[in-house]
Amino acid sequence: MDAEVRRLEEELQADLQKANTAEDIEALRVKYLGRKAVINQLFAKVPSLSGEEKGKWGKNLNLLKNKITSAIEEKIKGLGSAEDKIDLSFPAKKFDKGSTHIVSVVSQEICSVFEKLGFTVVEGTEIENEWHNFSALNIPLDHPSRDAFDTFYLDIPQKNAQNGKFLLRSHTSPSQARVMNIIKPPLAVVSPGRVYRPDQVDASHSFMFHQVEGFAISEDINFAQLKGVLLNFVRLFFAPDTDLRFRPHFFPFTEPSAEVDISCFICKGKKEKCSLCKGKGWIEILGCGMIHPKVLKNCNIDPKKYRGFAFGMGVERPAMLKYGINDIRLFYENDVKFLEQF
Ligand code: PHE
Repeated sequence: MDAEVRRLEEELQADLQKANTAEDIEALRVKYLGRKAVINQLFAKVPSLSGEEKGKWGKNLNLLKNKITSAIEEKIKGLGSAEDKIDLSFPAKKFDKGSTHIVSVVSQEICSVFEKLGFTVVEGTEIENEWHNFSALNIPLDHPSRDAFDTFYLDIPQKNAQNGKFLLRSHTSPSQARVMNIIKPPLAVVSPGRVYRPDQVDASHSFMFHQVEGFAISEDINFAQLKGVLLNFVRLFFAPDTDLRFRPHFFPFTEPSAEVDISCFICKGKKEKCSLCKGKGWIEILGCGMIHPKVLKNCNIDPKKYRGFAFGMGVERPAMLKYGINDIRLFYENDVKFLEQF
């Protein structure tokens, strides 16, 4: 009996050492505690032993059985903690990191150039009303931009009838009216944001796009300062040797008004077949002018005392020019392969 118990214990120790997986341990449990386990054969021998021996081996075998049970339990616990262990040296699973959308990047780039020139960033509201989007800006009631074909009107009851219907702003210029009513001059503000127009979507049009409005008001501001600010902007934003061209234009809210072109930074006006400027040498980027005295008056600023300049530009177009993007729709399709390039 002695020798058999010792052999059993030695074999158990050897098997425990070898067992590494949950299956190994289960096999061990069956072998040492199962119905056909050796220990059961030993128990079966106990009744045939002599009186004293019977008591001794009955007790010893029970102790042995408990020992086997706890050894196997220990092994199971050990295995569990080995599986839970984290290998800190193992290369981490790659996960996609988001980034700022290219339209936001460019909008922020534009604003930060103007911030360097002393402008403050103020956001307007996307849901506007007729007063701020049109009337305050001296846009007459019969102006085509007020037409439902050119503006998204909203079916929201208007409490203050004077403000006209609610709409999705069609440009960022209403920010001028909003700011002028709150901040008194001298002031210099840029106002970025989304604008909406019911345009047919194609490679260069979208029903929603982004603009940055800029304006400055003081007692002695003038057109030369407007030119200076814009020249500084295009040189900091596009390239240091960029030139500007002002073409006379009409906007109801500025007088005089101009459209502004930059010199083509790809061909510098030298290539007839330039893919960007088509040989013209100039690319249109914004509209500007001196704020119309009626606009100042509408916004409670004395036009006899103050003057201002204003300009408005898109964000997508400069972004397309600067980063060589040829289709405006790419900005809105949320294709990660496109977005992650910036
Ligand atoms: N709001 C004009 C547009 O959307 C741009 C502009 C702004 C022109 C300010 C002059 C002054 O086309």
